[in-house]
Amino acid sequence: MTTYAKISGTGSYLPEKIITNADLEKMVDTTNEWIMQRVGIRERHVVSGDETTCTMATKAAQNALAAAGLKPNDIEMIVVGTATPDQQFPSAACTVQGMLGIDNECAALDVNAACAGFIYAMSVADQYIRSGMYKKVLVIGVDSLSKMIDWTDRSICILFGDGAGAVVLEASEEPGILATHLHASGKHGDLLYADSAIWSDEPKPKAFMEGSVVFKLAVTKLGEIVNQTMEKAGMEKNHVDWLIPHQANFRIISAIAKMLNLPIERVVLTVEEHGNTSAASVPLALDHAVRKGMIKRGENLLLEAFGAGLAWGSALVKY
Ligand code: ACO
Repeated sequence: MTTYAKISGTGSYLPEKIITNADLEKMVDTTNEWIMQRVGIRERHVVSGDETTCTMATKAAQNALAAAGLKPNDIEMIVVGTATPDQQFPSAACTVQGMLGIDNECAALDVNAACAGFIYAMSVADQYIRSGMYKKVLVIGVDSLSKMIDWTDRSICILFGDGAGAVVLEASEEPGILATHLHASGKHGDLLYADSAIWSDEPKPKAFMEGSVVFKLAVTKLGEIVNQTMEKAGMEKNHVDWLIPHQANFRIISAIAKMLNLPIERVVLTVEEHGNTSAASVPLALDHAVRKGMIKRGENLLLEAFGAGLAWGSALVKY
C-alpha cells in the first residue's frame, strides 16, 4: 500500500508593518500605476521591532499545528525553506524547534532554494514520509527579504515583502502529495543573487536581479514544469482545481494559468496584498485559500515556484 504525505494543517504569519505603493512613491522614483500594471503589488508586509525570520516561522508553525490538532512534540522532523535564517548557524529549523518548545530531539534542517524554498522543503519532507521514516513533518517557508533590499533601488524595492507559511504533513493511506518536481540551473546564478555577509566586502550585502531576463525564464521554465508534472501524474490539465503559484508578478501567474487553460478565478492570488515573500509565498497563499474556505478536501492543487539559483519546482497535491 502506498503511503502518502497529506496536508493535515496549514498556518501563516504576516508582520503588522505595511509598506504601500504610496509609501514607496515617497522613497523612490516610482508610481502606484507602474507597480500595479507591471507587477500587480499594492502593498507588502515587513518585519519590525523584534520580529525575525524565526519568530515569523514559529507563529506560522503554531497556527499549522493548531489546525492539525497536534502538539509541538508530536512533530518528528522540521524542514524550513529559507534564504534568510536569523543566524549563519544554527539553522532556522533548529531555532524554530527551540522556539516551539519541542524537546523530543527531532530532526531539523534548512533548505535554501530562494523563492522555490517551500516547494523544495515539501519535496524533501514527502520523501521521508513516503519512505516510512517519519509520520509527522512540519514544513515551513519563510523569508525576510526586506532586510537585504536596497530601499533606494526602485527596480527591486517595490517587489518584496516578508512573511511565513507552514504546513503539517502526515503519513496517510489517502492520496496527498501526488508528485513533486525540482529543477535548478546554476549557470544562471548571476541573474538573481544576494552576496553572503561573510564573503562580501559590502557592510550589508544587497539583492540583485536582472528582472526582465528572470521574467522570461520564469514563464518558460514554469510552463515546462507544469506540463511535466501533469504528464508524470497521468493527469489532464482540466483536473487541476486550483493553481497556487509563487506570488512574484501577476503577469507571470496569468501566463501560467493560461497554459493550464485555468480561469483566473481558480488561481489563488495574494500578490497584491503580500508582494513577493520568497519561500513564504506559496504556503501563505495556500493558508489564505484554506482559511477563506476556497479550497475543499479532495481537490487537486498545483503548487509552483521559481527563484534564485535559478531553482524552480512544482507539487501536485490532493488536498
Ligand atoms: N517604477 C517605475 N519605473 C521603473 C521601476 C519602478 N519601480 N522599476 C523599473 N522601472 C523602469 C526601468 O528603469 C525601465 O525604464 P527604461 O525603459 O527607461 O529603461 C522600465 O521601467 C522597464 O524596466 P524592466 O525591468 O524592463 O521592467 P519589467 O516589465 O521587466 O518589470 C519586473 C520589472 C517587475 C522586475 C519584472 O521583470 C519581473 O517581475 N521579473 C521577474 C521577477 C521574479 O519572478 N523573480 C523570481 C523570484 S525572486 C527570488 O527568487 C528572490
